[in-house]
Amino acid sequence: CFSPELIHLYDLKGRVVVVVDILRATSSMVTGLAHGLEKIIPVSTLAECQQFASKGYLTAAERDGKKAEDFDLGNSPFSYMEDFVKGKTLAMTTTNGTHAIRLSLAADKVVVGAFLNVSSVAAYLVEQQKDVLVVCAGWKGKFNLEDTLFAGALAHKLQGLFESENDATLAAYHLYETAKSDLPLYLSKASHVQRLKNLNITKDITFCLQQDVYDIVPVLEGDYLVPYTPE
Ligand code: MLT
Repeated sequence: CFSPELIHLYDLKGRVVVVVDILRATSSMVTGLAHGLEKIIPVSTLAECQQFASKGYLTAAERDGKKAEDFDLGNSPFSYMEDFVKGKTLAMTTTNGTHAIRLSLAADKVVVGAFLNVSSVAAYLVEQQKDVLVVCAGWKGKFNLEDTLFAGALAHKLQGLFESENDATLAAYHLYETAKSDLPLYLSKASHVQRLKNLNITKDITFCLQQDVYDIVPVLEGDYLVPYTPE
């Protein structure tokens, strides 16, 4: 699913939805939970996020690639590595990624994918043995390259283990086939890479395009994203 705005075209019952927003929401979520954040509450609006601030939660907000004022964190994965996140619960809102999670709640399971944990997500999906829908956060309802490349990387890892029923998977697979030897080079002209570079945010791009830095899989339990722990 190339955009959260198209989720209504899919029946999410019985499915695992993998939400991906490589630059940078899901990369930051994986990083924060891997660095000791206890839980993340993805919310859609700044006002919802602000309400958590008044209850003493850690808060993170990003709009148009920039940290929103009056919140503790923005959306750079490097700020999610700080010691002060350990043991905390974080309310988080971003331009696209957190909204994509909120739109996926009808699924059996909602998990968070990034290049940073792509192999662990693939292993999780094999264990779950349910149909899968990858929801690409994109940019304000539009297609973006990096999220679809993640879907292609996942399709590569699940080749032979899952049957694909649509051309979107095939397209993502072949796109990744073309790009996999040098993702940063392939994405150098991508719209959000350009947007972030214009904001002098470059090291986040390099970091978010690394594969399998972490082995956790954030899964939604009620309103909270927590690291998946097998029964
Ligand atoms: C998004 O929600 O699309 C991203 O997180 C935006 C960003 O962090 O630059």
